[in-house]
Amino acid sequence: MELVNQTYQIQGQAMTELAKKYGTPLYVYDGDKILSQVKLLQDAFSSVNLKIKYATKALSNINILKLLKKAGTGIDAVSIEEVMLGLHAGFAPGEIMYTPNCVSFDEIQEAVALGVMINIDNIPMLEHFGKTYGNSVPICVRLNPHIMAGGNAKISVGHIDSKFGISILQLKNILKVVENFDLNVAGLHVHTGSDILEAEVFLKGAEILFDAAREFKDLRFLDFGGGFKVAYKEGDISTDIMDVGSKVSAAFKQFCKEYGRELEIWFEPGKFIVSESGYLLARANVIKSTPASTFVGVDTGLNHLIRPMMYDAYHGVVNVSKPTGEQHIYSVVGYICETDTIAADRKMNDIQEGDILAIRNAGAYGFSMASNYNSRLRPSEVLVLAGKDHLIRERETFEDILKHQIDIGI
Ligand code: LLP
Repeated sequence: MELVNQTYQIQGQAMTELAKKYGTPLYVYDGDKILSQVKLLQDAFSSVNLKIKYATKALSNINILKLLKKAGTGIDAVSIEEVMLGLHAGFAPGEIMYTPNCVSFDEIQEAVALGVMINIDNIPMLEHFGKTYGNSVPICVRLNPHIMAGGNAKISVGHIDSKFGISILQLKNILKVVENFDLNVAGLHVHTGSDILEAEVFLKGAEILFDAAREFKDLRFLDFGGGFKVAYKEGDISTDIMDVGSKVSAAFKQFCKEYGRELEIWFEPGKFIVSESGYLLARANVIKSTPASTFVGVDTGLNHLIRPMMYDAYHGVVNVSKPTGEQHIYSVVGYICETDTIAADRKMNDIQEGDILAIRNAGAYGFSMASNYNSRLRPSEVLVLAGKDHLIRERETFEDILKHQIDIGI
């Protein structure tokens, strides 16, 4: 979003006009920003055989998936429904990695039938898999590298107490099952968490992957997961992707030489690709001063963007109706019957009832984690691509709230 001629715009489209045209609350995505993030990654890893498996969970509108397919990525899917969305969006099964956690073997079998790569994250499942398919279906094994990393405890998933992956300390057990069933292990995977800034974390993950990989003969790829950090606050820094790219690529090339085969290197970023592309536009319903604060109550809340409440996440907020003007301190709060503070004590241009506020970094884990809490409707979504705005999801209606309820006639 840039300030052009005193209006906040995405590719020449004024935010205030988009809010007027489609109503609020509204998710708006900058398609060109998504494409430029993909390009950054491709450039950073241009010296190795990179496959990007976009983490669908971050933002799963089929138009976003189609845009990413055009940009040459594959996807990572964490549920059978995301696998089906990916297929629906036009990805070939071979471009889809399925990384479930704690699902039933039935769901794994469904995914096998759809022809996608299965990422197995526990030993009982590996055994089920071996008994059922032997070496007829290639698989990936998700390792838990025991690395503590990530922006907060809830999104750190590669440490020893985490439910994800098979402990690297159980590598011998994995090898035993692989040998018993002659499993065809095509890839190894680690994912340590989200909001990871330092190249060192990825290098540590690499070392663990390389050590484990030496025990497998037929690998085709190593998957480093996702987790690159993006800037949320002014002055915040993102992962230096060129630095990570050059350091990890150098180590990877060295390993491939030793392994005797040129492997593919996979990454599964979500936030890095879509976070900064997205804005949640909301209308200021109420400006309410108390002896302690000035609250701005907006027509959205934790039902549409749960990150501030769930992770204490910081999201920048801009009054796009007032590009200039006197500044005051406000707390932007939602309309939900809980303390859903979106932004506390922020200096913002004078806000009046009816002004449109843009909540930044709403592309990743915004709409995809939205709910109907308080029986509220989920917002519509708009994609701006090459200067043109497209409605990519209708606003829900009251019928959607009733749709699956069964009135038993009491
Ligand atoms: N791969 C796997 C196996 C994952 O579990 C995740 C995220 C990713 C890739 C993508 O991570 P990313 O590049 O987006 O950081 N809802 C939280 C983030 C939870 C992410 C869960 N797994 C948030 O809003 O911060």
